[in-house]
Amino acid sequence: MQVEQNKSLKTYNTFGIDAKARFFLEIRSLDQLREALRLEQFPEKFVVSGGSNMLLTKDIEALVLHIHMKGITVLSEDRDHVTLKVMAGENWHGLVQWTLERNYGGLENMSLIPGNTGTAPIQNIGAYGVELKDTFVQCEAMDVFTGELHTFSKEDCKFGYRDSFFKNEGKGRYIITSVCLKLTKRHHLLNTSYGAIEAELKKNKVSQITIQEISKAVIAIRRSKLPDPAVLGNSGSFFKNPVINKEAFEHFGATHPDAPFYKISDTAFKIPAGWLIEQCGYKGKRFGDAGVHQNQALVLVNYGNASGTEILDLAHRIMATVKNRFGIEIVPEVNII
Ligand code: EPU
Repeated sequence: MQVEQNKSLKTYNTFGIDAKARFFLEIRSLDQLREALRLEQFPEKFVVSGGSNMLLTKDIEALVLHIHMKGITVLSEDRDHVTLKVMAGENWHGLVQWTLERNYGGLENMSLIPGNTGTAPIQNIGAYGVELKDTFVQCEAMDVFTGELHTFSKEDCKFGYRDSFFKNEGKGRYIITSVCLKLTKRHHLLNTSYGAIEAELKKNKVSQITIQEISKAVIAIRRSKLPDPAVLGNSGSFFKNPVINKEAFEHFGATHPDAPFYKISDTAFKIPAGWLIEQCGYKGKRFGDAGVHQNQALVLVNYGNASGTEILDLAHRIMATVKNRFGIEIVPEVNII
């Protein structure tokens, strides 16, 4: 195994932050991963996969393990369903396209989400009314202390909104190595209820809705709102949408009757953080090379050479302004390193 030194991580994180890895190792197999975890000269390890959900605010002194394990295997199938095992290093959108080419349904609403498959369960990625947990069966993860592989069922993963066991109790303990998903082969469950999808399908005069057409619509919507990390560094939604209780919502609704919201239950209401941030005047604003995207205020962007600290300072300023103006706390969705 070839440990590289003082390697720039700029092309390994979608924010395009030029932090350095003091030591860096590309991992292509389970055996290599196990071997790397045993390297005693590097007691601390730091995992990078698609690098799509992290903001690097400093150089990394630990041994950086870049997960590059590939492969998509059909584990089982019948007339209606197929179960896939996908290695952690498979690009997420590449996987979605692979499934659509074979007419396997379930992932189409999550087209074009940046990142790799292995990190998808960590924050239970989701978009346009669908979350990873809806097709998730189980995943395998390696214990960083023992090198043993463990299987985690859907229940074990404790999925929530952009949340899971791996972000909480399991943090720092496991490296996800593969993910199993159960998809439909026919009678697909078409999820078009999210307003923007229906409008896009109508605009394209789609008469027969298919999973491929939904994917096309999602791609068009995302391209119109979200910056392409290959062109403009970003990490998707920087903040989570805040969830507030009924009392807070009634107060908020009375003072801001035009605000969009999603009712989660009788006692919980989700307010789009993008709306709150836009109301505070940040949308499209640029401070040096750090900025707030012009089409979606929930997305912070790097115009070129912003440092992680500059992006983080902007995030803190936004959080304080939103709290001050609305009394609502917003928190980052992105992992701050
Ligand atoms: N809005 C504004 N101004 C903005 C942005 C949004 O007023 O600058 C309003 C919109 O008009 C709309 C509402 O906020 O009424 C919701 O906006 P949008 O549909 O764009 O979705 P979101 O709540 O901002 C979430 C996810 C996205 C996901 C979309 C679609 C989170 C944190 N973000 O965004 O996920 O693509 O829904 O399902 O839940 C990601 O996690 O990286 C991500 C992009």
